[in-house]
Parts: sequence; C-alpha cells; structure tokens
Amino acid sequence: MLYREKIPADNQHPKQNQSFNCWIVVFFLTFAVGKSFTTSSPLTPPGWERSKGRGLSGAIKGACPFFFLNSRKISFITIHKSSKFFTFVPHRVSLTLYNKKMKFFIDTANLAQIQEAQDLGVLDGVTTNPSLMAKEGISGNEAVIEHYKAICNIVDGDVSAEVISTDFENMVQEGLALAKLNDKIVVKVPMIKDGVKAIKYFSSQGIKTNCTLVFSAGQALLAAKAGATYVSPFIGRLDDISTNGLDLIEDIRLIYDNYAYETQILAASVRHTMHILECAKIGADVMTGPLSAILSLLKHPLTDSGLAQFLADHAKAAEKSAVPIP
Ligand code: E4P
Repeated sequence: MLYREKIPADNQHPKQNQSFNCWIVVFFLTFAVGKSFTTSSPLTPPGWERSKGRGLSGAIKGACPFFFLNSRKISFITIHKSSKFFTFVPHRVSLTLYNKKMKFFIDTANLAQIQEAQDLGVLDGVTTNPSLMAKEGISGNEAVIEHYKAICNIVDGDVSAEVISTDFENMVQEGLALAKLNDKIVVKVPMIKDGVKAIKYFSSQGIKTNCTLVFSAGQALLAAKAGATYVSPFIGRLDDISTNGLDLIEDIRLIYDNYAYETQILAASVRHTMHILECAKIGADVMTGPLSAILSLLKHPLTDSGLAQFLADHAKAAEKSAVPIP
C-alpha cells in the first residue's frame, strides 16, 4: 500500500519530507531491533510472524506494519545530535492514501437524472432531502419508501434517506425502517441534539449515517464523535450568506486528520464546478451536487473547437483521398 503526504495547494508544506524520514527511522529501528519488532506487532501481515527479524528483509517486514497503523496520521521521532546533546523531535504527519478516490454523489430525487449520472459511469451515490423529494411530487410514507427503493435499484452506491422526525425515539424508528429497505441506504439525520444521540445509536448498530445541515466545524466534530459515516457541510448555503463554505471544508479536513476520524466529509450544497474542484484540492471525501455541476466538468471551449477542427481535417483528408468515380 502506498502513501503520500497531503500537501496543501501552495506546495510549501514544511513537513514535505517527513513521511520519508519516518520510513527511514522505522526502518533502522527495525533493522537494529530486528525480530522482536517483527514478531510483536499485531499488524504484521500473516506469514511474516516467524520470519527472521534481522537484516534487510527483517527490516522491511518489520517496518511494514507501521504503514497500516493509521490511514491519515503517523507519529514518529527524529533524533538530532548537537555538540553536547541529543534532541528528540516528535512529528505528526498527515498522510493520504494514494488509492483514495473522491466520490461523486448526485443531489436529487429525480430518477431520470440519477440514471443519466449512473450511465456516465462516475456516480458513487445519491443524496436526497425532504425538499428534493417534494420537488419530485413524492409524498406519503408508501410513495417515499417506493421512491427510495427505485433510487437504490439505479445507483451503485450509498443513498442518503432523511428522517423527518426530530426526537430521538422516532428518529430511531424511522431510521431503522429506512435502513431495512436496502444495504445502500444511509440514514440522514439533522445536526440537532437528538440527532447526535440517534447517530450514536445507529453507529452502534452498524447502520450508516449522514449528519446533515452542518454549518460549523464544531458541529462536524460532534458528528464525528458520534460516529457518523458522513458529515454534510453545506458550502453553497454558507456562500449564500457571504461566508466562505470552502473554509469550513478545510477546517473539518484538518480536524478529522488531526485525530484520524473515519467520518467522511461529504461536501454538500455544491453549486458549480469551482466548488467541486476546490473540494478536491482540499481533500473532501465526497461531493454532492446537481447533475448540471457534474456535467459542467466536461466543458471547455478549447475541447469543442479542437474536436471540430479534428473532425473537419479528417473529413478533408477523406475527401482528397477518395478515388474519383470514372
Ligand atoms: C445535502 O445533502 C443537501 O441535500 C443539499 O446538498 C442541499 O443543497 P442546497 O443548498 O442546494 O439545497
């Protein structure tokens, strides 16, 4: 498994080389201590437990488990020697998995749009909310349930279905019923006091949750502590009130990385391509937006004019090389 450091946009990260230092420190420690390191780690891959610890292969095998310790954060110490003293400098470095992919969710209850996004081959899930359901004219418990089932049949991925209740008992009942519909269902719960309790309950039952209506880093921290699968900060709505929604995504990324919270940042209320791109730079795990925002990623005038030129040149060449009919 490969790791790289998460480097901010300005590429001036002072800890840029520390993940490499980490390799070196662990490698030499393991090289020196050998067998005891290799055999004592519960994270040692199967089959390597009884391997000889010393030497190059022992060091590699012993160092390997340290890369499985944590997907986001790794701590280590470097030793510096001055003329008289040794100093031990602790480091904490953010790491991002090379194979981590940004997920694209579509934010709609419109089946045709969900199908179109699914057919594009880039869809990872769907988010809905009561307003989006109402927009499609879906009302009444049975119709709502059938609609969620229809969405689940189209999409390969998580489908957020929001509870309407605002008290713990009813949220739990509603959420359990929704979760039973399909494994893809993620119970969407508002960021209110009973919502936090409900998220905690659902996470203890292994039910996926999406904590919605998040507008501050404090709310996001609470959602992560409760064990939410996803947290939905609404960036577009913050922009609407002249507050930079992307700053919130950045703050949450930092906080979650500091403690390796597994809760995924689902950038919601995305309105346009720049939102998507900025979220990708910051490292949001997921973005959810309308189909138009996803399709806008396709567009560039130079692509259109370039393609028109290619096709015209191809047609001209075909005309020239065509054998004239006698
Ligand atoms: C998130 O899950 C919400 O459904 C959504 O992103 C809200 O977006 P809006 O602000 O465009 O309504």
